This record gives sequence, C-alpha cells and structure tokens, in this order.
Amino acid sequence: MRIRPVHLLAPTLLGVLALTACSTPATSTGPGDPAPSAPATVAPQPAPAVAALPLLTADLSALLAKIRADDKGQLAISEEDGRFLRLLAVLRGARRGVEIGGASGYSAIWLGLAMRETGGHLTTIEYDPARAKELAANIKAAGLTDVVTVVAGDAFKAVPAIGGTFDFVFIDAWKPDYQKYFEMTFPRLERNGVIVAHNVINKGGDMKDFLQTVTTRADLLTSIVAPGSEGVSISIKR
Ligand SMILES: C[S@@+](CC[C@H](N)C(=O)[O-])C[C@H]1O[C@@H](n2cnc3c(N)ncnc32)[C@H](O)[C@@H]1O
Repeated sequence: MRIRPVHLLAPTLLGVLALTACSTPATSTGPGDPAPSAPATVAPQPAPAVAALPLLTADLSALLAKIRADDKGQLAISEEDGRFLRLLAVLRGARRGVEIGGASGYSAIWLGLAMRETGGHLTTIEYDPARAKELAANIKAAGLTDVVTVVAGDAFKAVPAIGGTFDFVFIDAWKPDYQKYFEMTFPRLERNGVIVAHNVINKGGDMKDFLQTVTTRADLLTSIVAPGSEGVSISIKR
C-alpha cells in the first residue's frame, strides 16, 4: 500500500486526528484502575455579541467588488490591504478614526466595518467633489452611515475642524504631503494611537521625509509590511 505524505491528507482528517489526540486522556484506564470520574460539565457560554456581526455579507462583497471595478484610476487600496486595515482597527479597538483620502470609499468601508465592531466612528475626508459624492453614496449603500462621516474637502482644513483626539489615523492621499498629514494629526493622536500610511513601498520615494520620521522618532514604534504589493506603515504612539 502506498502511504500518502502527511501534508496531502485532507485537512478535515488532520482536524479529526488532532481532536482525537487532544481528547485522549493522559493516563489510560486499565482493568485494575479506578473508575474514571465523570467529566466536568461546562456551562454553555453566551455567544459574544460580535458573533452576530457578519464578517462580510454577499452584498458588501459585491459592493466592494463594484467599487474596484469602477475605479478606473486605480485609486483604491487592494483587497488584502483592506482586510488588513480592518484587522488593525479592530485590534486597536479604534473608537475615533480619521481617513485622509477617501476616494470612492473602498478603504472607508473596510474601516467602517471595523468601527461597527469596536463601537467607534470614522471621519473620511475626500478633496475631489465627484469622488466625495461617490464616497457618500457607497457608505450609504454599505449601511455604514451611522459609523462613518464623509467630509468633502481639503484635509488640511477638515482635520482641524474635527473636535477631540484620534486613536486611528489612515493616510492615503497625496504622497508628498504625508509628512504634513503626520504633523497635523500626531499632536492629536492618543497614546497607543495608531497611524497607518499606504503606498509606503511602491511610492516610498515620494514620502522620504515621512518615512524618515516614522522610522526614527523615539516616541513611535513603526513596522512596514506588505499585505498586498504597495506597502503599509503602522506606527504606534508611545
Ligand atoms: C489613493 S486615493 C485614496 C483611495 C482610498 N483610500 C481607497 O482605498 O479607496 C487618494 C485620494 O486622496 C485625495 N486627496 C488628495 N489630497 C487630499 C487632501 N489634501 N485632502 C483630502 N483628500 C485628498 C485625492 O482626491 C484622492 O481621491
């Protein structure tokens, strides 16, 4: 009989094997051993509220795909980066988010889904009036108007007009301005707040000052990763 390498076994079979291994008692009960005590019963736990939230409905998937299909200028982040962004905002438990460069809403929807889960709120700012309209329409279509506010205008005017502090900043607008966006938002970023910036690999040459800042400041922890190919910097304020 040919033995199949273990990595070719069906994942379900591996799962069963793992479960069996985990559930085997450490000491076996032989004929002379005392009768095993009844397994402790575990009271059913109430499902966490988050379980009621769909991770991504078919309607949302279709909306996101349509935004990308209509995005002739290829402005939107990749799906991988969108998923990563959502994950980061959920991990941070983001409550007060701002996005600089909303375009037609692709990334704002991913962030809005995170805010739905964290109980937070995102303000997304888009300079181009036609795109800002699409952004607002897409946020509405995604059912996220209660967690995402769309501001049509220049972030250099819109950010100072938002009250309070931020705990999550996403920068994805004009690349040579990244350092200025940083200088504008950093003083209002809470301790342990996060600044995420897009295109730091494929357009890193356009934002050298920003990259120098986030990789050398003593009050920031920064990592640069590439869920897709464009690169994302993540900085936490210490
Ligand atoms: C790369 S696109 C953003 C894509 C979007 N984050 C997404 O993934 O769907 C950059 C956008 O930033 C906008 N923008 C550039 N400078 C801006 C500014 N100062 N304030 C607000 N928006 C700005 C542009 O009009 C453009 O729509």
